[in-house]
Amino acid sequence: MIIAENKSLQNLNTFGINVSSKYFASVSNTEEIKELLSLEKFKREKKLILGGGSNILFTKDFDGLVISNDIMGISVVEETDEEVIISAKSGEEWDNLVDYTVNKNLGGIENLKLIPGKVGASPIQNIGAYGVELKDSFYQLVTVNLNTLEELTFNKIDCNFGYRSSVFKHEFKDEFIITEVKLKLRKNPSLNIEYESLKKEIENRKLSSLSVKNVAEVVKFVRESKLPDPKITGNAGSFFKNPTISESTLNEIKKLEIHVPSYFISENEYKIPAGWLIEKSGLKGIKFGNAGTYEKQALVLVNLGNANGKEIKDLAEYIMKIVNEKFGIQLTPEVNII
Ligand code: FAD
Ligand code: EPU
Repeated sequence: MIIAENKSLQNLNTFGINVSSKYFASVSNTEEIKELLSLEKFKREKKLILGGGSNILFTKDFDGLVISNDIMGISVVEETDEEVIISAKSGEEWDNLVDYTVNKNLGGIENLKLIPGKVGASPIQNIGAYGVELKDSFYQLVTVNLNTLEELTFNKIDCNFGYRSSVFKHEFKDEFIITEVKLKLRKNPSLNIEYESLKKEIENRKLSSLSVKNVAEVVKFVRESKLPDPKITGNAGSFFKNPTISESTLNEIKKLEIHVPSYFISENEYKIPAGWLIEKSGLKGIKFGNAGTYEKQALVLVNLGNANGKEIKDLAEYIMKIVNEKFGIQLTPEVNII
């Protein structure tokens, strides 16, 4: 186990924000987590579990212990004629897990190709893309309680997954470290290619038959065409969640704009893309000091140089204010602001 003091986190968050943590430890198994958390020195320190840092905005130095998760391993734990249960330790790169399953021609997470970050964070906000969410293939996860050091298993129902949400963002926030995630994947999957941009690209390619692998490749292509690569431009993906609005709010917006992209969810509930709201507020591609919105996707806030976390947060607040003034809709951040 590596323990450091005053550790720079600049290369450990995809916004590339230059902050440091008072203490930093990297753990590679459950025993090390227990050993670390038993140390008197850290008992009263604030703690932050860090995966790939791709859904975090640091606004200041972290005055406590950052626990970096390096618990590795992927394996098949159970198999029937139709399904396979895969276990992935939480320090694995999410995209490596996707490749592992795609190479075995197992269906379920191919639409989640190229999402940055580690396996352990995937249930925290129930990652989703192109019509699929983690919860659709989720089976179980294993945790260690940061206070009692007990190991506890959560089944799907215990996680209370929703859109970009789970118990780990709410009632159990900062209480557990996830050490392992198990997924149930299908040997003969029905592929989900209903998402508009995915469907379009599949039609363009005139593929005669579709496989899990084709879908993953198309998702990769579509993502690369509109999302900035964090290795080049600091960002954390969508900064805000897509809001849910009522029918009357939607009708008000339709008086302002001719074509309004919206998706019916349930009676009197419609989802509207936050990126569209931001663009229609005249904020796509704007620069705000060293921060900005991405010119191809207004929902993505970018670090244009040496932005600090406060500059990005100020820009986010400005966007929230302008969108609210124009559309009467309150955006909420998806990114964890620390
Ligand atoms: P981190 O940013 O390190 O952590 C996120 C949160 O989870 C923090 O609160 C952290 O404390 C907690 N956490 C992390 N690991 C653990 C653990 N083992 N146990 C307990 N808590 C933990 N997200 C989507 O859903 N869909 C997308 O399509 C998508 N696209 C993106 C594209 C880009 C270019 C970028 C930069 C981000 C994108 N994201 C997307 C957001 C991000 O990739 C996901 O939220 C991802 O799951 C975060 O993983 P991470 O390891 O980087 O988590
Ligand atoms: N749009 C605009 N202007 C923009 C951006 C988007 O008009 O600047 C419109 C698009 O034209 C399209 C609609 O908004 O009609 C949806 O856009 P897109 O397909 O790019 O998806 P999104 O709703 O902006 C969501 C997720 C992404 C996920 C994609 C694909 C949220 C908050 N974001 O974005 O997730 O990859 O769908 O499924 O739900 C993330 O969470 O970090 C993330 C990147």
